[in-house]
Amino acid sequence: MSHSSSTQGIPEAASVPRHIAMIMDGNGRWATKRFLPRVAGHVKGVETVRDVVEACASRGVEFLTLFAFSSENWRRPADEVSFLMKLFVSALEREVAKMHVNGIRLKVVGDLSRFDEKLQKMIADAERKTAGNARLTLTICANYGGRWDVMQATAKMVAANPGVTEFSEEMLAPHLSMAYAPEPDLFIRTGGEQRASNFLLWQMAYSELYFTDTFWPDFNAAALDQAIASYQQRERRFGRTSAQVVAHKKAS
Ligand code: IPE
Ligand code: IPE
Ligand code: MG
Repeated sequence: MSHSSSTQGIPEAASVPRHIAMIMDGNGRWATKRFLPRVAGHVKGVETVRDVVEACASRGVEFLTLFAFSSENWRRPADEVSFLMKLFVSALEREVAKMHVNGIRLKVVGDLSRFDEKLQKMIADAERKTAGNARLTLTICANYGGRWDVMQATAKMVAANPGVTEFSEEMLAPHLSMAYAPEPDLFIRTGGEQRASNFLLWQMAYSELYFTDTFWPDFNAAALDQAIASYQQRERRFGRTSAQVVAHKKAS
């Protein structure tokens, strides 16, 4: 693997985060505040996705990961769930060709087996079409759960090592659904809640956390720059003392 684990080594920390992971929250409240149906917030949220992808790419972010639908979001009213599925299909139909032109590699991770076949095929086609692009890797987490990810990786690790009873982090890592990406440097959650909601539990071991009250449909490039500026103020110690971090910076 080209990147190191934050627990097995000390990752290189660049001034622009290599990987940003976001929980896009607050669509429903954005709409309710405007006396609109909740789904109007989801529609507006897709526009934000488009702007944020472009903003990240132009700032040199290599990986952007967006939480679009959690393994717990099936608990929502059936009409909201089916609207979200249709929105996902229409966003793929409208955006994939543009993404391809703009050098975006698309990945969709999560338990996709629960989606209907048409959607699964669209996802596979979009991933295949954009697989060679290198400007930015956009990962959409759909029917994703952090616990699901650790469990599916564990099952694969055990199957890949018959008879083995002792395991290590290095043995698990290649089976996690985002093994192609470094761990997120910066985690952003919009919408005011300060919780992980079963997002990238394993991968966020040393991510810098940033929370904003801004609802996702109102998030934009300027708000992204504020989050990156906050990130740039942090001292990432990965367990060391501040003096060690300073000495390491001088040496390198
Ligand atoms: C996030 O916005 C989008 C999804 C979870 C699909 P919400 O729909 O959770 O919006 P709020 O939190 O109800 O405002
Ligand atoms: C997290 O948001 C999931 C996504 C943004 C897709 P939720 O709105 O579902 O999270 P909770 O239920 O408030 O924790
Ligand atoms: Mg929410």
